[in-house]
Amino acid sequence: LEDKPLAGQKILITAGPTREALDPVRYMTNHSSGKMGYAIAEAAAVKGAEVTLISGPVTLEKPDNLKKYIQIESAEEMFTAVKDNLKDQNIIIKSAAVADYRPKVYIDKKIKKSDEHFNLTLTRNPDILKWIGMHKTPEQLIVGFAAETNDVMENGISKLKKKNIDMIIVNDVTRADAGFGTDTNCVTLIDKKGNKKAYPVMPKKQLAHSILDYIIANL
Ligand code: PMT
Repeated sequence: LEDKPLAGQKILITAGPTREALDPVRYMTNHSSGKMGYAIAEAAAVKGAEVTLISGPVTLEKPDNLKKYIQIESAEEMFTAVKDNLKDQNIIIKSAAVADYRPKVYIDKKIKKSDEHFNLTLTRNPDILKWIGMHKTPEQLIVGFAAETNDVMENGISKLKKKNIDMIIVNDVTRADAGFGTDTNCVTLIDKKGNKKAYPVMPKKQLAHSILDYIIANL
């Protein structure tokens, strides 16, 4: 059991960006590459977990030994996939960078240019992590990420409380060696008991194991 400490645990992981379509040829997105979430999925499978990976559009290869792999594009599709797969999960880790807003209307023909200015109205997407926090069973352990550019710790702690989750991994995304797209990351883990653990800069693949080790020690 020592080399498979997550044997028998079902883990749901979300990774990558979302795409919010405006018309058939255009969309809004962000810089998430999926590397962090895929590293966690891979590490969890190595540690023996039954992994369900829900992924936005990325160019990474699907990790080995997943139980389930679901590809989605929009935040709404991710929300549906999460709800459909939430039951029976022991641990949920939300490393995906979900768009907070989407274009209010989808225009089904390519938008033509006309005037000098073009106004785009956006509408709120569901907050998937907040919904999970509201509907989780007492046995489920919920881990969120927070990508921050300012007041990093304060904003992270506020998300941990507002979303009613067990743990948040706070990412200062202004650092060149951390955050979106990089192979390394630098994060601080905060749990709801107030414990804080600051990790040095390290490869995302190694950090994934460290985060899971922390979770295993606190299960
Ligand atoms: O993919 P990489 O290139 O490797 O980059 C990794 C990363 C920077 C994307 C990752 O480490 C990270 O920080 N992920 C969270 C990105 C994010 O969207 O953070 P947020 O602070 O906006 O959201 C907070 C939490 O709520 C996140 O767990 C997010 O998945 C969740 N959320 C946010 C909005 C929304 N509508 N629904 C959500 O579930």
